[in-house]
Amino acid sequence: MEKESLCLHAGYTPKSGDANVLPIYQSTTYAYDTPEELAHLFDVPKDGHIYTRISNPTVAAFEEKIAALEGGVAAMMTSSGQAATLVAVLTAAQAGDNILAFPTLYGGTFNLLKITLMKLGIECRFIHSEMTDEEIESMIDDRTKMMFGETIANPAMVIFDFDRFAPLCRRHGILLAIDNTLATPCLVTPFKHGANVVVHSTTKYLDGHAVSVGGVIVDGGNFEFRGNPRYADFYTPDESYHGTVYVDEGGKAAFALKARMQLMRDMGVSPSPFNAWLTNLGTETLHLRMQRHSENALAVARALKKNDKISWVKYCGLEDDPNHEAASKYFKGGFGGMVCFGVKGGREKAADFIRNLSFIRQLTHIADCRTCVLHPASTTHRQLSDRELVECGISDDFIRLSVGIENAADIIRDIEQSLNR
Ligand SMILES: Cc1ncc(COP(=O)(O)O)c(C=O)c1O
Repeated sequence: MEKESLCLHAGYTPKSGDANVLPIYQSTTYAYDTPEELAHLFDVPKDGHIYTRISNPTVAAFEEKIAALEGGVAAMMTSSGQAATLVAVLTAAQAGDNILAFPTLYGGTFNLLKITLMKLGIECRFIHSEMTDEEIESMIDDRTKMMFGETIANPAMVIFDFDRFAPLCRRHGILLAIDNTLATPCLVTPFKHGANVVVHSTTKYLDGHAVSVGGVIVDGGNFEFRGNPRYADFYTPDESYHGTVYVDEGGKAAFALKARMQLMRDMGVSPSPFNAWLTNLGTETLHLRMQRHSENALAVARALKKNDKISWVKYCGLEDDPNHEAASKYFKGGFGGMVCFGVKGGREKAADFIRNLSFIRQLTHIADCRTCVLHPASTTHRQLSDRELVECGISDDFIRLSVGIENAADIIRDIEQSLNR
């Protein structure tokens, strides 16, 4: 099936007489007739459900859908996007290890990697695209477990250069993990470009209606753990799970199995079945929304470019955008809904612009079907120092606009009336 059809049909196929729409299994537990049946599930967890912290039929249906859309072999939903990133890193790394990441990452991810993981003994070494391969490679040692990037950095809007970094990770036998939240699998499929693990904040476009916080980890099934000394814990017995060897038990889905049976079991960052159901419902229309988000964002970016009250516009769909060439290699069917721009007059005028908008609301959110706006320097990124703000690509006048699926003319009219005021 193509992606449009997978959005609707992957993950749930009703049997004769079943509900046509995915049901909500709002149950913590699952009943079995014999001790042997339940014992079998403790040995082979993928054969059924034991307890909703570990898996649930509604959640599993969404997981299967997103794995199919991304072209991965398995997925695990989490209670939030932050939890997905945390669990993805902890599946690969432990105290004493390090990972590589970019400072342009979403502010919450930046804090998680820089501060909180450091407290757990995992060092994040920050790299920049301007560094040479030799400079980056000199930061890799035998405890480096992962490179972490974002398809489109939120909100710096830098496009991840898969053609450069995927071969670099392969040369060193390091996992490449990509946050694909802003692009979604309808526009970019990171596994096709060499990523091994994908994470999402499903809170964004996958839900799309701003009703449910969630995250997901997708396993590309394309990484050889066996024999790679960095990842011995994937091919030696896990004493905490009666000696399971993840590459034997999980096969290609070893990463997803370890994430679930070790990290989800112990940390319990599981989603509620109802949230999974809402996210699945949103994902059914993902392909249509991404098309409309992209068309509207391009129209808005073009209108902003022409407006003399705007000092700069960043949208990788604009032909003269510095990221357009890179984006054109990886994006299919649109460039997404995020447009960033600067209002002439700096922080004060940026605040006035937000104050004077009419139906476009100020929200700590993006990727909603309704257009929303934010001034990152005074909100999501306010914990960062001036130097860190510059590293993240954020300036005082920076406005982040998440373009929705309303009529584009209405969005442009609201922006223009605010600028005129
Ligand atoms: C790109 C990206 N990744 C991860 C997250 C964290 O996701 P959540 O808010 O669902 O925890 C966000 C949140 O804004 C995000 O924009």
